[in-house]
Amino acid sequence: MKEYKVSVIPGDGIGVDITEQAIKVLEKIGGKYGTKFNFTTLKAGGCAIDEFGTPLPEATLEECKKSDAVFLGAVGGPKWDTLPGNQRPEKALMGLRGGLGLYANLRPAKVYNILKSASPLKEAIIDKGIDLLVVRELTGGIYFGERGRGAEEDVNYAYDTEKYNVEEIKRIAHVAFKAAMKRNKKVTSVDKANILESSRLWRETVVEVAKEYPEVELNHLYVDNTAMQLVRDPSQFDVILTSNIFGDILSDEASMITGSIGMLPSASLRNDSFGMYEPIHGSAPDIAGKDLANPLAQILSAAMMLEYSFNMSEAARDIENAVEKVLEKGYRTGDIYTEGMKKVGTKEMGKLVLEEI
Ligand code: IPM
Ligand code: MN
Repeated sequence: MKEYKVSVIPGDGIGVDITEQAIKVLEKIGGKYGTKFNFTTLKAGGCAIDEFGTPLPEATLEECKKSDAVFLGAVGGPKWDTLPGNQRPEKALMGLRGGLGLYANLRPAKVYNILKSASPLKEAIIDKGIDLLVVRELTGGIYFGERGRGAEEDVNYAYDTEKYNVEEIKRIAHVAFKAAMKRNKKVTSVDKANILESSRLWRETVVEVAKEYPEVELNHLYVDNTAMQLVRDPSQFDVILTSNIFGDILSDEASMITGSIGMLPSASLRNDSFGMYEPIHGSAPDIAGKDLANPLAQILSAAMMLEYSFNMSEAARDIENAVEKVLEKGYRTGDIYTEGMKKVGTKEMGKLVLEEI
């Protein structure tokens, strides 16, 4: 029997509710496919600030390094919102991404046929479908660049730096082109090359990498135009390749137009099979612990973990199909509920998915 060591970081808010359901799904899948997952639950985010005085305790990072994958819920909440920048729960994410070298963030956004009515886009637009993948650089750029504060002539200032080197751009570009080869063979590289020098290097480098993938169609868009195109006609996109900060913004937009931010998983990867998997939504503290959260993004993140870290594509499809069946039967958590559907809570939704596996 195959065995994998999985570090589980439920985090804060609904992270706790939804990881619980996803782990049950993983246990059942493990049984079905002869694989044992050894889970270790770790603290990071606001709960770690409360208990250890730091968002990412050294022990948590060390344990993650020893595991085969990290399975994360969500971190943060109003309770910790007034802390200084480097002590906030979000700092745990930066520490995990940077500390584990997870430079490639994959954020698929697709609209489920049965959930189309939940999209805020007009029918004529959403009918053309959305099935895109945001490939976001995750350990460079302005998130990790030099920053600081100072004063000039008694006026305070602050700055952050967007800096990319060629190697960082190349490796994320390869991830995007490889992903495109398995999809519809189209990469849209997003930058702000009309203004930013770092974007000009980004564009030049992507053009170079593209030569190794002659089958893939490459085009370039400025980030402001991309924001517009995403609501005008998202069906034009296959793979969107972009920097850390642009990817942050565009992936939120991409998820919102599908109408179901509670449905979207993500994977953060490097060159080996190790990865960190989490839903793209936040910790939704207002509904935490009330059995209201949608566990599906977390469950679908488990599917991504099986696919990318454990080479278990069939099991991953099994989970995705189970989710789709439950939706087809009309079950909905509050966030995706529409009239005539059957409203269920977090636990019931988890149970329904289990029953389909
Ligand atoms: C995300 C989040 C994080 C980011 C925050 C919480 C630091 O918005 O994963 O997209 O900006 O990367
Ligand atoms: Mn974000």
